[in-house]
Amino acid sequence: MSHIKLKCNDCFYSHDSNMSILNCKSCGGTVDVEYVESKDVQNKIVLNNGMEMIVPLKYPEKFVSLGEGNTPIIRLPNVEKQLNLDKIFGKLEFMNPTGSFKDRGTFMMISMAIEEKISSVVEDSSGNAGASLSAYCAKTGLEAHIFAPESAPVSKLGQIKTYGAKVHLIKGSRDEVTKKAKRFYQENNYIYASHVLSPYYVEGTKTFAYEIAKQFAFDLPENIIFPVGNGSLIIGCWKGLNELLEQNIIDKIPRLHCVQAEQFIPVIQEINGDSDYRMNDNPFSVAGGISVSFPARKKEVAKIINDSFGIGVSVTDEEIIEWQKFLARKEGVFCEPTSATVFAALKKLFDSNAISKKDSVLLPITGFGLKDKLFV
Ligand SMILES: Cc1ncc(COP(=O)(O)O)c(C=O)c1O
Ligand SMILES: [Zn+2]
Repeated sequence: MSHIKLKCNDCFYSHDSNMSILNCKSCGGTVDVEYVESKDVQNKIVLNNGMEMIVPLKYPEKFVSLGEGNTPIIRLPNVEKQLNLDKIFGKLEFMNPTGSFKDRGTFMMISMAIEEKISSVVEDSSGNAGASLSAYCAKTGLEAHIFAPESAPVSKLGQIKTYGAKVHLIKGSRDEVTKKAKRFYQENNYIYASHVLSPYYVEGTKTFAYEIAKQFAFDLPENIIFPVGNGSLIIGCWKGLNELLEQNIIDKIPRLHCVQAEQFIPVIQEINGDSDYRMNDNPFSVAGGISVSFPARKKEVAKIINDSFGIGVSVTDEEIIEWQKFLARKEGVFCEPTSATVFAALKKLFDSNAISKKDSVLLPITGFGLKDKLFV
């Protein structure tokens, strides 16, 4: 018997684990991994910080790795000075092997694909998830089909092509790209290795929680702010933090906040109970990684933010670029615009008294600056 089931987040219907299951067979909801009798489960990997983490893999010792995770946390004294805050930390997620946090989820999803003897996968991406998937597919010999918007940054597309993936450029919005990728995998009977829907992907992003727990000596900062498009990092972090809480490794969970670009605020509307999402006609934001109008897991993300007493904040393109430059010029940290959003959000949370001077804040800095277009 397998040690996992895939459980629907809406109707709780339980499925046997299989990479082709991305939505509930009963109601179409998203699914997540459930560990059957988790206390007795021996399927754990040892992370490179020495901590053990429960995983969906049958053969955990064989997980695929490019050396992801274990990213440094640094103090940001000039941000502290600028905002008159006491303790601000950045976790340099762009120091993952392909330059973004996406590798955390990909290593687990591809490890599952290898166990299931899959040979071809399809993914849609604004660039970073595609680059990450392409790298892990290159390492393991899988064929990767990456659907991306024509408008994706040339550097990200170049990275994907260099890893040898097959790139499908799509005219239109990010949501159009998703539609085309879905049609393609269904027509060809391929596996859709979606960083949005795959229940295994968020099992990988759990590593973020295990790392910060140890890096802060099991006494976590009061606040973490995530840039949210589809929410894969915040969902994995929440799952990981709850596992740590259940094992009494930590005794409290930080407030998890999210930031969205003001042209794309479906999660914030969900948090505010406004489920009737209205999209602008031709939305564009410099934060390409979070330019998502219809995130499939928005209910899950909104619940996490509410349950952790977090807040959803929107920011403008001007604020994003201003903070991207500030970070580069005052802290020597060069991140992509999507990642700079968390700093603009921090300022808003502080200005509105949601975060006070003495509260410590952790900011994942999710993607490297050279991956995106330059707006300076
Ligand atoms: C650099 C960067 N940060 C944050 C995100 C948002 O991740 P998610 O869509 O899983 O919320 C993305 C997504 O592409 C990204 O590329
Ligand atoms: Zn269901």
